[in-house]
Amino acid sequence: MTNKIVYITRRERFNAAHRLFREDYSDEKNLDVFGKCSNPMWHGHNYTLFVTVKGPVNPETGFVMNLKVLSKIIKELVVDKLDHKNINLEVDFMNGKLASTENLAVEIFNVLNNALNEFENVSVHCIKIQETENNFVEYFG
Ligand code: NI
Repeated sequence: MTNKIVYITRRERFNAAHRLFREDYSDEKNLDVFGKCSNPMWHGHNYTLFVTVKGPVNPETGFVMNLKVLSKIIKELVVDKLDHKNINLEVDFMNGKLASTENLAVEIFNVLNNALNEFENVSVHCIKIQETENNFVEYFG
């Protein structure tokens, strides 16, 4: 058995709408704090999600885990719930949370790390979400 830990990453993409705002702020203050993302009429982003998983290489398969299996889990638990949806209103794991990319990364990390419990020695290392060409967020748990 090798004890080398290898990191593998799967990229997925989704489009979703959101609004960054606090109900206890005025529209003016929301605009001041959250900028264009506070638009009361919503807006969308083309998000790119990078899921990095870590674990030892299985000597039988040469894999940390089967990327096809990982992709299926990400699709079912994350992408299908977000794609073409309103993050504020329609995504169960974002209920009651500010729809920021930071919070999205934390919640996606938790959802996927729970799902990977059934795979021995494999866990989520990092969730990276690119919201725009120039902005991305990373969460390492
Ligand atoms: Ni936005």
